[in-house]
Amino acid sequence: MNADCLSAALQRIEASPTTAMTDRATELREQGRDVISLSVGEPDFATPAHVIDAAKAALDAGDTKYTPVTGTARLKRAAALHFERDLGIKTDPTRVIVTAGGKQAIFEAIAATVSEGDEVIVPAPWWVSYPQMVRFCGGQVVPLATRARDGFRFEPAELEALITPRTRWLMLNSPGNPTGAVFSAEMLQGIAEVLRRHPHVLVLSDDIYAPLIYTGAPHATLAALRPDLAPRICTVSGVSKSHAMTGFRIGVATGPAWLIEAMGRLQSNTSGNPASISQAAAVAAFEGPQDFLEGWRERFRARRDLVVSAINAIPGLSTPVPEGAFYCFIDAAPLMSRFGDDNALALHLLEHGVAVVSASAFGGRDGFRISFAADEAVLEEAMRRIAGALA
Ligand SMILES: Cc1ncc(COP(=O)(O)O)c(C=O)c1O
Repeated sequence: MNADCLSAALQRIEASPTTAMTDRATELREQGRDVISLSVGEPDFATPAHVIDAAKAALDAGDTKYTPVTGTARLKRAAALHFERDLGIKTDPTRVIVTAGGKQAIFEAIAATVSEGDEVIVPAPWWVSYPQMVRFCGGQVVPLATRARDGFRFEPAELEALITPRTRWLMLNSPGNPTGAVFSAEMLQGIAEVLRRHPHVLVLSDDIYAPLIYTGAPHATLAALRPDLAPRICTVSGVSKSHAMTGFRIGVATGPAWLIEAMGRLQSNTSGNPASISQAAAVAAFEGPQDFLEGWRERFRARRDLVVSAINAIPGLSTPVPEGAFYCFIDAAPLMSRFGDDNALALHLLEHGVAVVSASAFGGRDGFRISFAADEAVLEEAMRRIAGALA
C-alpha cells in the first residue's frame, strides 16, 4: 500500500502552508538554530486567567464525558449572547453550533452544501484553507482578485461579474487574514444589493478577527446589517483569536436552521462533540469580562505601527497599513528579479532566521505575510534580520 490509494478528494488538497512553515521553524529551532517565527496566526498573550480557572474547575467537577454533539446548552446560550452583543446578530441557541475551532465550522458549512462543480467565490488574497476546503468537496474556487492599492477591497460590480447559476457561496473575511483588510458597513451594503439580485448565493462571513480592528470603527457584519439576508448567511466566530485560546479548539457558527442542522449531522458522524473542558472554558470567555481586549488592541496597534514603518523603510518591500487582525501582507515585487519567486524569498528569510509565509500561499504573488502577534523586542529583531537578509 502506498499513497496511490489516496482518494481523489484528498489528492486535490495540500497541507496548510502556514502550518508547514511554522513546523519547519520549530524543527530548525530544535536543531539549535535561532529562528523567529512570524508565520503562525495566534496571539502571543496568555489566555485570560478566568478562562483557565473555568477549565480547571470543569476538570475538577468531572466534566470529562461526551456532551451533546453540537455543544452544551450553556455554551450555545453564551455563544448566542456573543453573536448579539459583539456582532449585532440576533440569533438563538437552536441556530448555534459549537465546533472544534472556527476551521471546523467553515469546513462543515462547505462540506454540507458544495457538490461537484459548484462554484465558491473567494476574495484573493485568501485565508489558505478556504480554497483547499472547497476543492476537497469537489467545488470550483472562483478567485475575486483584490489589490493593495484598493486596500484589498473589491467593488460590488466585480463580485457580480463572477456570479453564475453554479455559484454556491461567497466567502467574506473581515478583518481579513492575510491582508488585515476591514470591510465597512457601506461596502457590505453594496455587496448586499448584489446578493439581493442573486438569491441562490449563500454567504460565509468569517468574523473570527472581529475584536481586532484598529481604526476605531465598529465591526460591521452582513447578517447584522441586513437581517433580510440572514436566512442565507453563516457567520463564524470563536475564541481562538479574541481570547488567545487557539489550543482549546472552540469555534461557533450561526445561520439558518437547515444549515446548522446539516453541519451538526456531519459533526455527529465525524468528530463528535468539541472537548468538554474547552467548552466550559469558552463559556467563561463569552460570559466573562471583555475589557482586557482594549489593552490587547492597543498592544497590537503599537506592534503593527512598528512593523509597518520598519518594512516600508526596507528597499524593495512595501505594505499598506492593515486596519485589523494581526498580519501585514508585504509586497516584494521589486525583489523578484533577484529571488525568482516569493517561495525562494521566504526560504532566504528563513535562512536568515525569520519564518514568514509567501504571498502565493494565499493566492497572492511576489511577497509574503508576517504575523505581528509577537513581542515588540522580537518584532524589532525580526525586522533587523529581514533588513539584513535583503541588504
Ligand atoms: C481567517 C481565519 N478563519 C478561521 C480561522 C480558524 O480559527 P480556529 O483556530 O478557531 O480554527 C483562522 C485561523 O488562523 C483564520 O485565520
